[in-house]
Parts: sequence; C-alpha cells; structure tokens
Amino acid sequence: MPSSPSSSVGAVGALWWWLRPLLFRLDAEQAHRIALALAARWSKVFSGELSAGDPARSASLRVEAMGLQFPNPIGLAAGLDKDAEAVPLWQRLGFGFVEVGTVTALAQPGNPQPRLFRLPADAALVNRMGFNNAGAEAMAVRLTRLRERAILQVPVGVNLGKSKVTAAEQAPEDYRRSCELLAELSDYLVVNISSPNTPGLRDLQTVEQVQRLVDAVQGPNQRLARPRPVLLKLAPDLADEDAIACAHAALEAGCAGLILTNTTVRLEQLSRPQAGLSGGLSGRPLFARSTALLAQVRAAVGPGPVLIGTGGIFLPEDVAAKRDAGADLVQVYTGLIYRGPGLVRELLRAKRGLALRR
Ligand SMILES: Cc1cc2nc3c(=O)[nH]c(=O)nc-3n(C[C@H](O)[C@H](O)[C@H](O)COP(=O)(O)O)c2cc1C
Repeated sequence: MPSSPSSSVGAVGALWWWLRPLLFRLDAEQAHRIALALAARWSKVFSGELSAGDPARSASLRVEAMGLQFPNPIGLAAGLDKDAEAVPLWQRLGFGFVEVGTVTALAQPGNPQPRLFRLPADAALVNRMGFNNAGAEAMAVRLTRLRERAILQVPVGVNLGKSKVTAAEQAPEDYRRSCELLAELSDYLVVNISSPNTPGLRDLQTVEQVQRLVDAVQGPNQRLARPRPVLLKLAPDLADEDAIACAHAALEAGCAGLILTNTTVRLEQLSRPQAGLSGGLSGRPLFARSTALLAQVRAAVGPGPVLIGTGGIFLPEDVAAKRDAGADLVQVYTGLIYRGPGLVRELLRAKRGLALRR
C-alpha cells in the first residue's frame, strides 16, 4: 500500500513522543525491540514512498557520490536495523540513505543480555550487542522482497561483519560468502572491522588484513554487471596514522571510500564512571574524536574518496562540523534514540549545514 499523505509519518512522530517516556523506562534493548517491531509493522503496511514535492527530496539537498544518487546526505547508521526490517519507514522519515546490518554470513544470537545501556546524562549509549542478526540468507530474502516492491527511493547499503564462530584466518571467506548473497541486492557495501564487540574483529584493522578482506569482497562484487561501491568502516580508537594507513590500503584495494567512525571503547569520557560497564560508546561523547579522525583522514586521502561521517550528530551544526571536517554524507544512530524520528527532518530543514562537498 502506498503511504498515505504525511499523516502516517506525523502519526509516527506523535506516537514516538507519547511512547518515549514509557520506552525510556524500559530496559534499553526491550525498548529497542518494541520500537523496531512497530517500525517493521509500519513498513509492511506502507511503502514509505515520498512525493516529488517532499522536502527530503528537494533538489538542493541531492548528493551524487560513488555513482549513486542520494536524495539528501543524512543516512541511518548501521546497527539500528540489523536485519533490514523497516527500510520503508526510514525512507519515509526523510533519510537520504539507509545502511542495514551488520549482517554476518551465519545467523547468530549476539552477546548475553544486558548488552545495551542508555546514559542520558551524556546523551550516549553503550552497547555490546555482538552482531546479533538473522544472517546473510535471511537478509537476502528481505532485500529481495523489498526490491520486488519497487518502493525504494534511497540507496540501501549493506554492512558486512564477521561471524563470531569464524576464526580470524577464515574472515575473508566469511565476508566473501555474505557478499555473494547480498552484493547484488545492495547499492553499496561496507566492510566492517571496527565493532568492539566481536572478539578479535578490530585486530583486522591492519594494512595487510584490510587488503585481504577488501579483495575477498571484491571477488564476487567485481563479477556483477554493475559492481557496487565498497566502503571500509573504521574505529575511532585507532591512532591517526594507523587509521590513515588502513584508509590508503582500502583505497588501493578498490574501495570507494570510508566510514568514520564506529563506537569507541574509551568509556572514561563519560561524566560519571560506570563500574563494570563495557562495550562501544556512541552519541555526544564520540562527536569530537570521530570528527577529528574524519578531518585527519580527509587531509590524508585528498578530495577524491567518499567519506561518510558518523558519531554524535544531534544538531544541524553537528552536520556542518562533519562537512567542514570533510564528510560527503553523514549517518545518525544515537541522536535518533534521544531526539526521536523528527530529528531527520530537523537536520534537513537546516540547509546551511547540509551543503556537503559533492
Ligand atoms: C546499539 C548500537 C548498535 C550498533 N551496531 C552496529 C553494527 O552492527 N555495525 C556497525 O557498523 N555499527 C554499529 N553501530 C555503530 C553506529 O553505526 C555508529 O557508527 C555509531 O553509533 C556512531 O554514531 P552515533 O553517535 O550517531 O550513534 C551501533 C551503534 C549502536 C548504538
């Protein structure tokens, strides 16, 4: 069914503000599950298509990058919709692109709960989800159905990670398997080696491993009639020179760009020490480091490669700061949890921040 006029999304916004106090009283993962179930339900009923006059598709916001047309530069970051359950809703909220995953070759339950924590005093989240997802085959089924509905007006990226049971030496095979199943259904692919919650994953952030992994993904990808752009997602905890070395290795191996950054394990930045808390920190405290690393990488790689800036975006001026640091596109996750679905259109209304580079 096509979306009814903006009322369906207005209703989502209103529902959010009504639900928010209830959701914030629940355990963070339980709240996430309820919100995602509603989002998935909405996405089965409505197409999420935007009318030609929708401000999220205004000509002044368009970005062309990696051979793709982005109606606007604000994207949904990986990890919120790991199994591609609610893409129509993200599109309808105004996102200019949606990254689903991280998906692994094998379905896996992730780490034991509790594994997601809200830290409202810091406008932050800490997670140690551990790539809970239904696996690449299930994702392929969902994306096939979505493509058949022919409702997508925004690029959909697929973020690939390593299955927990796969040993580090076998990692290229694992990524290749996911890529074989999913490349053709994606608009772009992400090689994610920067999540802190899969043991050994971030050890893959070396020049040699980056080359191996990107080569593994490029194998099946380059056999497609239209190979998809591949990006590498890096952690903010790398030293600048190591991140830059990985960036160069990725670009030499044929990547179109990089995503900066994933979550940080440096929890000491929190305003109050949290005994026993471990995982990846996102939101406000991540903003400064992720933006600084973005600027360093842009300076090192020059103007050509596409850089997607993510980490701590809550306000239009945060988008402007990512732009000034060299971002072509940006992504949001934690800001959406705290500020609600209206955040996307709020960021879009502030066009000044959005005149991104391309
Ligand atoms: C609960 C949670 C789960 C996440 N899962 C993933 C994931 O599966 N893959 C990934 O590449 N990034 C994941 N991320 C990282 C985000 O994509 C993003 O890089 C990071 O949160 C910084 O953006 P933010 O400050 O706007 O949240 C996750 C973040 C959160 C908060």
